[in-house]
Amino acid sequence: MSEELCIIKGSKLQQYKNLFPQLQALKNSCDDLIANMANFSAALRQQFQWFWVGFYLVKGSELIVGPFQGPIACMRIANGQGVCGICWEQEKPIIVSDVNQFDGHIACNADSKSEIVIPVFQSGRMIAVLDVDSDRLNAFDDTDAEWLMKIGALLS
Ligand code: SME
Repeated sequence: MSEELCIIKGSKLQQYKNLFPQLQALKNSCDDLIANMANFSAALRQQFQWFWVGFYLVKGSELIVGPFQGPIACMRIANGQGVCGICWEQEKPIIVSDVNQFDGHIACNADSKSEIVIPVFQSGRMIAVLDVDSDRLNAFDDTDAEWLMKIGALLS
């Protein structure tokens, strides 16, 4: 594909449907995990204008921040800590409609208001979480969980 992303307006579903094949094409053009995580973060933020989009990589007993787009973030998260650490522990997506109501949420930036975290697997093993933050309350729903899981699965 060209280096230019085709951004559209429309419903959340229309935006995901437009973006997905472009992410597929990016992935097919390069086999490097970190490069793909970097471009996926950039593409998701370009399309949805989210506050923070990025990956935390499973490294030993911690998550370490990986490719992301947005303000600087916490670098290490322990298993079971914060939304990301709980997602890692449970290996399931987590939607947080109001981060201030979530016990144990790690506030990397006070402007983050809601969050979704998705497990990313490779050969059946969890290798990372995809973390997305919005500066609006209640920004994420099951459509995001479904499509971000599909997007994460492109990396498997
Ligand atoms: N809020 C996350 C930490 C990562 S930042 O949002 C980028 C958490 O509670 O795990």
